[in-house]
Amino acid sequence: MKTLLLLVLISACGAEPHPGNSSLEHERIIHIQENGPRLLVVAEQAKIFSHRSGNVTLPCKFYHEHTSTAGSGTHKIRVKWTKLTYDYLKEVDVFVAMGHHRKSYGSYQGRVSLRESSENDASLVITNIRLEDYGRYKCEVIEGLEDDTAVVTLNLEGVVFPYSPRLGRYNLNFHEAQRACAEQDSVMASFDQLYDAWRSGLDWCNAGWLSDGSVQYPITKPREPCGGRNTVPGVRNYGFWDKDKSHYDVFCFTSNFNGRFYYLIHPTKLTYDEAVQACLKDGSQIAKVGQIFAAWKLLGYDRCDAGWLADGSVRYPISRPRKRCSPSEAAVRFVGFPDKKHKLYGVYCFRAYN
Ligand SMILES: *[C@@H]1O[C@H](CO)[C@@H](O)[C@H](O)[C@H]1NC(C)=O
Ligand SMILES: *[C@@H]1O[C@H](CO)[C@@H](O)[C@H](O)[C@H]1NC(C)=O
Repeated sequence: MKTLLLLVLISACGAEPHPGNSSLEHERIIHIQENGPRLLVVAEQAKIFSHRSGNVTLPCKFYHEHTSTAGSGTHKIRVKWTKLTYDYLKEVDVFVAMGHHRKSYGSYQGRVSLRESSENDASLVITNIRLEDYGRYKCEVIEGLEDDTAVVTLNLEGVVFPYSPRLGRYNLNFHEAQRACAEQDSVMASFDQLYDAWRSGLDWCNAGWLSDGSVQYPITKPREPCGGRNTVPGVRNYGFWDKDKSHYDVFCFTSNFNGRFYYLIHPTKLTYDEAVQACLKDGSQIAKVGQIFAAWKLLGYDRCDAGWLADGSVRYPISRPRKRCSPSEAAVRFVGFPDKKHKLYGVYCFRAYN
C-alpha cells in the first residue's frame, strides 16, 4: 500500500511541476516518474492452498496511475496468466483476457476464468484442481507500454510416497519415473513437497527422482547405511542426473481423491488376477498405490489386512500403530511384490465418483 501511495504522490508532482523553480527538482521528479512503475500488479497472498478437485482463486490486482486522461479507456488492459516451469525460459500458457476476448490453454480449457470482483481484479479462478496444477503462476497485466507481474504459488494438500516398481530398486530413468507415478494416480513430487514430507517425518534410504530432475532422499534418523550415523538429518541431494541413462526410484505426490477406497470383504484369499476381477465385480477397480497412501494419510484409513494393489504389490495402511500390525509407526506397510499366483492376500478396491 505504501508503494502505491508513493506512486500517486509522485505522479501528482509530475503532472504539475513547481513553476519557475530549480530545474534540478524538476529533473528529479521526471527521473522517478520514468523509472517508477505506472502500473502496479499485486498478489495479496503469495501462497494459496487447495487440494485435488477443489476450486481456488489465485489473487491478483492491478493499480494504475490516474492521469487526467485516465478512465477514458485509451489503453485496453490485457491480463495474461502463465505457469512457471523449472526451465526459466519456458512458461506454460494458462489464460489470456483482453476486452471481451478470453482464451484458456491446454488442460486449463473449461477450468479457468477471471474473478473480476472489481475493475482492477485480475484474479484467476481454477476449478476442479488437478495434481499437475501445483506450482507457480505469473499474473501479468499489460496496459499500453506498461506492464507488471506478480507470482502466486498454488500448493496442494497431499502425501509424498517413495515408489519403486516390481523390477526392483533403482530401475527407473526420469521419464519412466514420471510414468510410474502417473500409473499410481500421482505425479512426481517437487523438492518442496519432499522437503515438507521430510519435516513431517518421512525417512527413506533410497534415492528417488524429483520433478526438477534432481535425485534426493529424506533422512530423519541418520544411520550408517544412509549417509552415515554422524550426519545431520536432512534431504540428501545426489544432484542432477542424465534423465535417460540414470536409474533411481521416484518420489510421487498425490492429493485427495474423489471416490471411495476400501478393503473388499471376500470369503477367500485371492490371486492377483482374482483380485482384479473381484473389484470389477463390485463395480470398482483394484486400487492404485497413490490411493492407498491418500486414504491412509488424508482419511486416516486403517486396516490390518494385506491386500493386492494394481501394480502387483501387496500393502496395508496403518494409522493406529499396534502389535502385529505396525507396532512402532503409522505407515503404509509394504509386504512386497509376491508371485501373482499366490492365493494369500485380500484386495483394496477404488470406486471413483463422477
Ligand atoms: C525553489 O523554491 C523554493 C521555495 O519556493 C525556494 O526556497 C528555493 O530557493 C528555490 N530554489 C531555487 C534554486 O530557485
Ligand atoms: C467448483 O466450482 C464448480 C463450478 O463453479 C462448481 O460446480 C463446484 O461445485 C465447485 N466445487 C467445489 C468443491 O466447491
